[in-house]
Amino acid sequence: MAEKESVQDTHNYYVDIPMNSEIFQLRGSNALEWGFKNRLSNIFHPATGRTVMLAIDHGYFLGPTAGLERVDLTIVPLLPHADTLMCTRGILRSTIPPTFTKGIVLRSSGGPSILKELSDEEIAVDVEDAIRLNVAAMAVQVFIGGEHETKSVHNMTRLVDVGNRYGIPVLGVTAVGKDMVRDAKYMRLATRICAELGAAYVKTYYVDEEFDTVTASCPVPIVIAGGKKLPELDALKMAGSAVQQGAAGVDMGRNIFQSEAPAAMIQAVRKVVHDNATPEEAYDVYQTLRNKSK
Ligand code: 5RP
Repeated sequence: MAEKESVQDTHNYYVDIPMNSEIFQLRGSNALEWGFKNRLSNIFHPATGRTVMLAIDHGYFLGPTAGLERVDLTIVPLLPHADTLMCTRGILRSTIPPTFTKGIVLRSSGGPSILKELSDEEIAVDVEDAIRLNVAAMAVQVFIGGEHETKSVHNMTRLVDVGNRYGIPVLGVTAVGKDMVRDAKYMRLATRICAELGAAYVKTYYVDEEFDTVTASCPVPIVIAGGKKLPELDALKMAGSAVQQGAAGVDMGRNIFQSEAPAAMIQAVRKVVHDNATPEEAYDVYQTLRNKSK
């Protein structure tokens, strides 16, 4: 056992070195508490402030979507390449190994299936269960301009209130109705409403014109959904343009798990998001990895 006096003699207070008081790198997040920042750091990679979220929550209204019929076989092998997984609690409990220690973004709204009016959602998770599952964030669909717009906004604000109580960020997912124009004007409106009403970050769709005005006018980080399956190079171009215009990454599903080579594709997406690779450089990576896996 060390002698009391000799232990005290070893103290070094580094009086000439100012204490490090880093500014938290995520846009609009400085005023958040430690638990929020810690959870967000489990979504956005601390080295780049960006994220490759793997979105596999489609089944909550679509059932067994192509590529997600057997999550154990098609998605679990991709997990080492994702910064975060976005999924439902059903898939999480039944299929995702609890040894996955990166962030889980929990699908927390739902109700109607693809056969019904989609904007008619309710909150679908109790915050206690989200805590039990140790999630990094809760995701809720917001239907700006939709038939049940106010209800879906209210779902988000209620989740923000309970999330704030426990330090759990809420991801506002802008859902564009099939009859709505997907342009920058709409995306500015929808993303800004989510941020103003408390979302810690917002998911939206990339638009070809003026996407930089969408990221500029949203005071919290934006990630883009991938949308319908595109040829791999086009999907990489979309991800690259989004991050170069201020997006903090992607929340991509079909363009990864419906790719001919999902593991190669997610690694190529990482190149664009985290290493600022050009889409063409990332596509080379995709092709090389795809060919190796054949
Ligand atoms: C479903 C979602 C999906 O997670 C989102 O659309 C991302 O997936 P994809 O890249 O396939 O569009 O929120 O409502």
